[in-house]
Amino acid sequence: MKLRNVGILTGGGDCPGLNAVIRAVTRAAIIEHGAKVIGIEGGFEGLIFRRTQELTVRSTRDILSLGGTILGTTNKGNPFEWREQNEDGSVTVHDLSFRAVETFRELQLDCLFVVGGEGTLEIGYKLQQKGIPVIGIPKTIDNDLDKTDYTFGFQTAVQVACDALDRLATTGRSHHRVMILEVMGRTAGWIALESGLAGGAHIILIPEIPYDIESVVNKISLRTTGGSPYSIIVVAEGAKAIGGDVIVQEAATNRLQGVPQLGGIGYHLANQIKNHIDLEVRCTVLGHIQRGGTPTAFDRVLGTRLGSHAVQAAAEGRFGTMVSLRTPDIVLVPLKELAGVVRHVPLDSQLIKCAESIGINMGREPENCR
Ligand code: F6P
Repeated sequence: MKLRNVGILTGGGDCPGLNAVIRAVTRAAIIEHGAKVIGIEGGFEGLIFRRTQELTVRSTRDILSLGGTILGTTNKGNPFEWREQNEDGSVTVHDLSFRAVETFRELQLDCLFVVGGEGTLEIGYKLQQKGIPVIGIPKTIDNDLDKTDYTFGFQTAVQVACDALDRLATTGRSHHRVMILEVMGRTAGWIALESGLAGGAHIILIPEIPYDIESVVNKISLRTTGGSPYSIIVVAEGAKAIGGDVIVQEAATNRLQGVPQLGGIGYHLANQIKNHIDLEVRCTVLGHIQRGGTPTAFDRVLGTRLGSHAVQAAAEGRFGTMVSLRTPDIVLVPLKELAGVVRHVPLDSQLIKCAESIGINMGREPENCR
């Protein structure tokens, strides 16, 4: 089909590689189809309140290596559950999806490219059901989206966390300390697991395996008696001790995002370890440093491939789908297969097996790796 006007928005938390997608969609739509490209600002908020800018080859020049998103984003603007904070702090929820549909029609768009994680793509799917032709493009540093090998942004986050672990190792080794790095990832342990493997962590704690503090302490003690009186731990923000709870900074009910803000397990773990052993323990929370800055080459290439393929899918009328990496190809997956699915690290993952086989403690005593 002939593409005349296409829209693109980025939703949810930002992530390195978003600008690579925006650039690729813009260039492919203009160069291959002569289409006009409308950038919708601030995620779905821009669709509700009609905040847009035209994207051109010129305006998307030099953004390939830029972190963040030139369109802006938010993880608060779900049009189906628009949350407004009242004076007493309570939150009222409205359905403003009709306004998003109105804006789409007023802009006379042929399709909407929705770049986002699980929450954003679910909204994309619901808009598709309301008659908007949507193509989803998966992103998240958490890598917790189903039906795709990797999401762009993840590899950059892993590299940042790996660099942090390398630095923590030199200071931890010098001072004979236990160094804890808390990383993001929500309820999935992908960032912790891959950065821990890349950064030579001695202990990796992920949400999928509630940790036994005795096993963790035992590993640190064994290292000390074995002549290495320092340990490097990477802990995912969503990790928890056996019988303990995930540590939440702010509950979902108080937040316009409608999801809890995780964080604090690193300090909690530091206190638990201090109660058991005599080494000094320090905690670093990497936070949004993982999300900012320049995307790695892998994430730039993946973002560019997804953006270009999304335009091709739109031209073929393949709406209601998401472009997805199934190495070595980019394929299309129905959006409805993704709704509400979070991809966790499977307990039988080869990555976990690999970590334990080389003596990394995963917060438990595996039978064959004592
Ligand atoms: O989903 C990406 C992510 O960075 C998570 O890893 C983290 O829990 C969350 O977003 C942080 O969100 P916010 O930017 O709202 O603090």
